[in-house]
Amino acid sequence: MSSIESVMNETRVFEPAESFKAQANVKGMDGYRALCEQAEKDYEGFWAGLARELLVWKKPFTKVLDESNAPFYKWFDDGEMNVSYNCLDKHLATQPNKIAIIFEADDGKVTKITYKDLYHRVCTFANGLKALGAKKGDRVIIYLPMSIEAVVAMQACARIGAIHSVVFGGFSAKSLHERITDASASLIITADGQFRGGKAMQLKPAVDDALAMGGCECVKKVVVYQRTAGETAWDAQRDVWWHDAVQGQADTCEPEWVNAEHPLFVLYTSGSTGKPKGVQHSSAGFLLHAINTMRWTFDYKDSDIFWCTADVGWITGHTYVTYGPLGIGATQLMFEGVPTYPDAGRFWKMIQDHKITTFYTAPTAIRSLIKLGADLPKQYDLSSLRLLGTVGEPINPEAWMWYYNTVGQTRCPVVDTWWQTETGGHMITPLPGVHGLKPGSCTMALPGIMAAIVDEAGHDVEKGKGGFLVIKRPWPSMIRTIYGDPERYKKNYFPEDLGGKYYLAGDGANCDLDGYFWIMGRIDDVLNVSGHRLGTMEIESALVANPLVAEAAVVGKPHDIKGEAVVAYVVLKGARPEGEDAKKIVADLRNWVAKEIGPIAKPDEIRFGDNLPKTRSGKIMRRLLRALAKGEEITQDVSTLENPAILEQLKEVVK
Ligand code: WTA
Repeated sequence: MSSIESVMNETRVFEPAESFKAQANVKGMDGYRALCEQAEKDYEGFWAGLARELLVWKKPFTKVLDESNAPFYKWFDDGEMNVSYNCLDKHLATQPNKIAIIFEADDGKVTKITYKDLYHRVCTFANGLKALGAKKGDRVIIYLPMSIEAVVAMQACARIGAIHSVVFGGFSAKSLHERITDASASLIITADGQFRGGKAMQLKPAVDDALAMGGCECVKKVVVYQRTAGETAWDAQRDVWWHDAVQGQADTCEPEWVNAEHPLFVLYTSGSTGKPKGVQHSSAGFLLHAINTMRWTFDYKDSDIFWCTADVGWITGHTYVTYGPLGIGATQLMFEGVPTYPDAGRFWKMIQDHKITTFYTAPTAIRSLIKLGADLPKQYDLSSLRLLGTVGEPINPEAWMWYYNTVGQTRCPVVDTWWQTETGGHMITPLPGVHGLKPGSCTMALPGIMAAIVDEAGHDVEKGKGGFLVIKRPWPSMIRTIYGDPERYKKNYFPEDLGGKYYLAGDGANCDLDGYFWIMGRIDDVLNVSGHRLGTMEIESALVANPLVAEAAVVGKPHDIKGEAVVAYVVLKGARPEGEDAKKIVADLRNWVAKEIGPIAKPDEIRFGDNLPKTRSGKIMRRLLRALAKGEEITQDVSTLENPAILEQLKEVVK
């Protein structure tokens, strides 16, 4: 709650300029209200209208929403379409020569590809995948760096009806293995390596290691895109170079017409247990929302040059790199490298060079760029920008104001978009020609999204009071299930305590007297580190898997740039280490977690104790650990604590 108080200190409201409003796709509060009313009056008719307007159907749907097996909802279920057709073929008649992707490599080299070329690349690769035995319904793991090939691979899967599961390149072999086996993937698409910050890094060894861990008999082939051209270990039976896989393949490929509900992809994300959840999305409903939010939230115009900085390994990259921009026919920028190479002006230079109009990034990136050079944007011509966006975590008002003033030069509305891997696309967000902006608030729900705040029993809370953020009605781009675990889907997202009907987002939130939403952060054991979701249990399981560790508890603490930092309390099997010993074990454990999960999950701090603070019934007192992590005085009642003496030990951070 304290963080939200600081956010509320900025009380100014930034209204959209008349000139922006006049040209906006949704004009003013009247335009917004009219859409909301339409959705309230005829919910199915509202979504059906959008689905007919924005998607091309091979076979039109006659049913809209099927709630007969709630919460396993179906949308447009008797319709048939293909996502890749809707992203590529659809544009061939009207804009074949428009640039679809401008790719800027780590070293600054720029490659541009038109819609027509991208279409042929996707078709050729889709034919290559088919020749390797991939078919409709197969799961395909994609473990690729930011590249045109990553988009081609995802679109090619969609074209043949294969279900892709993209794994972020920063995840370790172990995490990759977990996802390969959970999805029982038959094919993996990867690269030999990637360039970041002027350095070549290998990628394929992680795939080799994952497959060597056993239980991966499902995997028949590994397709390898050659990016760094270093030495690569090779399994001649299993591995195929991308350039060989497409050799001699036709450059057209009839799309696989699939049912609207056919799974488009599974994307793993952290939850409150140790095992990541495979969030499964549909084809039509997902794409519909991706396209429509490009139009509403990003106020898309044909002349725009769109840049979403997210990696395709995250949901933001799925919706706002691979599917939304192509679905609407935009020109977009993709970037291989990091914002700090060759210097912290890289993003601003790229906005200038490519005349970016719409820029979408994460608060953590904004905060680190402020720190590295708050005045740097002034050295570049950013006059092409007309709209800014953020996603992934709450944005503090200081960062918001800097973004608005220094990057957007007070000309560009900032859309603070709240959504999740599970929601498929934006849910609560300002529309740039509608809402007055309050820094730190994601403002109001999109028309057709029935967001509300309820108490433990599922009753609406009064405005101004905090509670659980829920969505009261199913929407087209929602998660369909957790892959292979429908029970967990039901329990996790539609808990009986709330009546079993509301989608529980897992965030605490507040709605102020003007009806503006303020997100207060997760209510479960999920951390948000640099906009990445990490389960505390996942990190704990990784730690206790180390032979030295007896027990571990992980909590978050506020961090200036990352939003949250990871603090781990560890009990070793041997004695509590001190001095140099402790330092060495800390370094080892950090590397261990990087190997088990990925570098993003490395604890920022490790503290050792002879034990963890537990109640007499043996429950770890996490609230206490959170207070200790923040360095707060312990004012809470510790009388139930079995071993109060260890609190002193746990205050000590190993530096
Ligand atoms: C948080 C990312 C405040 C939230 C698209 C949510 C936000 C989680 C915002 C989902 C925002 C995302 N303001 N918090 N604008 N956007 N979050 O699945 O806690 O990686 O539940 O999806 O990020 O993270 P995920």
